Amino acid sequence: MKILVTGGAGFIGSHVADAYIAAGHEVAILDDFSTGSEANVNSEAKVLRLDVRNKEGVAAAVAAFRPEVVNHHAAQSEVPKSVADPGFDAMVNVVGGLNVLKASVEAGARKVIFSSTGGALYGEPDVIPADEDHPVRPLSPYGTSKVCFEAYLGTFHRTYGLEYTVLRYANIYGPRQDFHAEEGRVIAIFASRMIAGQPLTIDGDGEQARDMLHVADVAVANIHALYRGGGGTYHISTGIPVTINELFRKLAILTDYRLEPNFGPRRRGDVFRIALDNARAHNDLDWDPKIELEEGLTQTVEYFRKQVLSAR
Ligand SMILES: NC(=O)c1ccc[n+]([C@@H]2O[C@H](COP(=O)([O-])OP(=O)(O)OC[C@H]3O[C@@H](n4cnc5c(N)ncnc54)[C@H](O)[C@@H]3O)[C@@H](O)[C@H]2O)c1
Repeated sequence: MKILVTGGAGFIGSHVADAYIAAGHEVAILDDFSTGSEANVNSEAKVLRLDVRNKEGVAAAVAAFRPEVVNHHAAQSEVPKSVADPGFDAMVNVVGGLNVLKASVEAGARKVIFSSTGGALYGEPDVIPADEDHPVRPLSPYGTSKVCFEAYLGTFHRTYGLEYTVLRYANIYGPRQDFHAEEGRVIAIFASRMIAGQPLTIDGDGEQARDMLHVADVAVANIHALYRGGGGTYHISTGIPVTINELFRKLAILTDYRLEPNFGPRRRGDVFRIALDNARAHNDLDWDPKIELEEGLTQTVEYFRKQVLSAR
């Protein structure tokens, strides 16, 4: 089938595009390359170099490609940037997303798959692991823009019959993650700095915990969502909280890192402990995470080792 992957030059979107192409689908990538990179783009994908805020450009490009499914990963994806400039975040994530949605309807697309967030929606969760019905109370404009776009998907379904599936991701890690980014990329940052033998600072006491999922598992979830999960919202997660100190220790062993971490101030607005229940994805999408943390970290360290060495 023809699939448009917005954000397909980025970390997660490029793995999703690769998985679709490997499964025999025809893929076009719509990306402005603001945080994505040419090196991530699958050579078999058609590239539409466009900003999602360009309404006319997006409408023309989607109409020309006529995708059956639109997989929407393009976003302003950094929490601190959304705090610094909430208007820009909303312009890309809400208004830009609406340009993609409208263009999808006009081009006759059957379905939109949307990459939302589980980590930035619930605030400090009441229970761990939190399920998808947990009250939504985002601490950042980024979380609010994501949940806002989820609501628009419901509207477009009711008004135009456009099918959708929302995938609320945990903290995703793996090859191609940008270790220069400001936040959320703890494994990419730790691994690359440890390999280079550089000092590291942990924000707070390191006992804060996150649900860490390997990007290859995310790609598989996006394959399953092509045919399943219509009208549904799903955590794509492990359900297991891992502390930053645990990640530090595991990565230090894998990289033979001998330095002790520095501990900085706790970041304001950060959730302390979170994990996301994935039972609904198991039941409806027939999806389960397959890559254990140790295996995923080993693979990711290998990737960053090559990156760091080739940069020397
Ligand atoms: N990384 C995570 O842990 C995580 C967790 C939850 C949700 N998500 C969501 O998954 C998606 C992908 O995130 P990622 O981590 O791969 O980030 P990323 O920055 O690597 O990917 C985003 C892609 O979108 C493109 N893009 C940004 N603004 C654009 C615009 N205005 N027009 C067109 N393209 C634009 C970028 O160039 C990039 O290729 C995002 O929607 C993000 O919110 C990520």
